[in-house]
Amino acid sequence: MNYSYEKEFFSHIVHQDYYSFLKRELKKYNQHGNTTIFKHSRNVAFYSYKVGKFFNNKFGSKIDLDILIQSAYMHDLFMYDWHEKSNLHRLHGYTHPKVAAKNASNYCNASKKMQKIIETHMWPLTITKIPKNKEAWILCLCDKHTAFWETIHRH
Ligand SMILES: [Fe+2]
Ligand SMILES: [Fe+2]
Repeated sequence: MNYSYEKEFFSHIVHQDYYSFLKRELKKYNQHGNTTIFKHSRNVAFYSYKVGKFFNNKFGSKIDLDILIQSAYMHDLFMYDWHEKSNLHRLHGYTHPKVAAKNASNYCNASKKMQKIIETHMWPLTITKIPKNKEAWILCLCDKHTAFWETIHRH
């Protein structure tokens, strides 16, 4: 990957007011294997960005990379350790998209569109929450792909 590509990716997120908050919060907990939620979210964001950019360049798809990257960084902003045994955490897979969307709105001023993208990222597990636009579909698929590789490689 060349330098300007990486620079473009980070420019969508590092200048956001809430970035240091996100970094601090998401580093507190692990997601898959030894991957912190921060690292997982960054992986999902970067992969989503690459897919979105490919479609924009190749097909002129008009995918909003800014919204896509920001939503990806916030998609698992549930702010608890889901590995801890508790009745609430048992339903984590179903409930965390809504919790993350609410936190994204409360702490990071996420727009309605971003909240919807976050809410639908666990589809088809959350059967009625179907991704409604291109950014939501990309995030939903890239999250699954990334989680699979993180679990396999345990990094
Ligand atoms: Fe998630
Ligand atoms: Fe995720």
